[in-house]
Amino acid sequence: MKRVFSGVQPTGNLHIGNYLGALRQFIELQDDHECIYCVVDMHSITLPQDPKELRSHILDIAALYMAIGIDPKKSIMFVQSEVSAHAELGWILTCSSYMGELSRMTQFKDKSKGKENGSIPTGIFTYPTLMAADILAYDADIVPVGNDQKQHIELTRDLAIRINNRFNKNTFVVPEGRFMKEGARVMALDDPTSKMSKSAENEFSRISILDSDTKIKKAIMRATTDSDALVKFDIENKPGISNLLSIYSAFSGTPISDLEKQYDGRGYGDFKKDLVEVTINAISPIREKFEEIRNSHELTKVLDDGRERASVIAEKVLARVKNDFGIGR
Ligand code: AMP
Ligand code: TRP
Repeated sequence: MKRVFSGVQPTGNLHIGNYLGALRQFIELQDDHECIYCVVDMHSITLPQDPKELRSHILDIAALYMAIGIDPKKSIMFVQSEVSAHAELGWILTCSSYMGELSRMTQFKDKSKGKENGSIPTGIFTYPTLMAADILAYDADIVPVGNDQKQHIELTRDLAIRINNRFNKNTFVVPEGRFMKEGARVMALDDPTSKMSKSAENEFSRISILDSDTKIKKAIMRATTDSDALVKFDIENKPGISNLLSIYSAFSGTPISDLEKQYDGRGYGDFKKDLVEVTINAISPIREKFEEIRNSHELTKVLDDGRERASVIAEKVLARVKNDFGIGR
């Protein structure tokens, strides 16, 4: 059975971009793969977090994992900082990476734009080597993620291949990314030229999985479109309505071309009203399950058990890697 690994940062509530781009895949894969899903809390401290909020968000993401359908009987679910192999392997991989390749990561470039070297945290620079460690510590074959992580997966593969070549052995399994056709890059509702994110200031730029029906409706009805009122997919000239069409298609399973026909000559009002309904139908059951799970004993047990199972796998891989590098006795 092939092994799957993915992670989500506990920096805020999941939005529909996270769900459509990444988490939807987590569920699809768990029946015929050995899946390991992580709450990557060490990644989230690359930027300062309020400790109380961070701890609460860790449990939120874990509860959301279960609410969207991750079944702890089938998949391993755990918190990254509770398995120390991630940090250890992260260091080993940092030592095998180059300043040049890390400087070329678009996420790093975005996050450090306009800042002096003196105020750029080193963690946002070395972030991708920790992500590579997450994946490589489990000999993962497949990594389901949104499009924004493509470059980080490429780097993970480069590091694995570089080290395998250096020792002339299969120190690491070389993983592959897995991306959705529809929803791999959901854009902000108020600005369809930037991606939907957990941290954007305008709360109407995103729809969080735990948003109320009223908030969902407001966010969609306000979403930026254009003035010609044609429901047509055209990323270049009509990025707003194209983004909404992708979301509609991803939630409903209806191809975009069919949606274009369905709304031909009907304008944006009708389209948006239906999109509100489709979105609420898809995510309100998740919200209800989340409330049940978030404060249950079951969640604690699942994460304790996940930590044990994850450690066993990662420790074994780490021992192999340390041996190949010649560190330890
Ligand atoms: P993060 O919130 O950065 O931890 O992302 C968790 C997962 O969601 C990753 O696989 C990302 O690639 C994916 N993701 C984040 N934002 C978006 C977006 N706007 N559209 C599609 N996927 C996304
Ligand atoms: N970097 C990813 C993001 O921001 C989160 C992440 C960390 C991850 N480690 C991972 C995703 C390992 C997949 C596999 O979304």
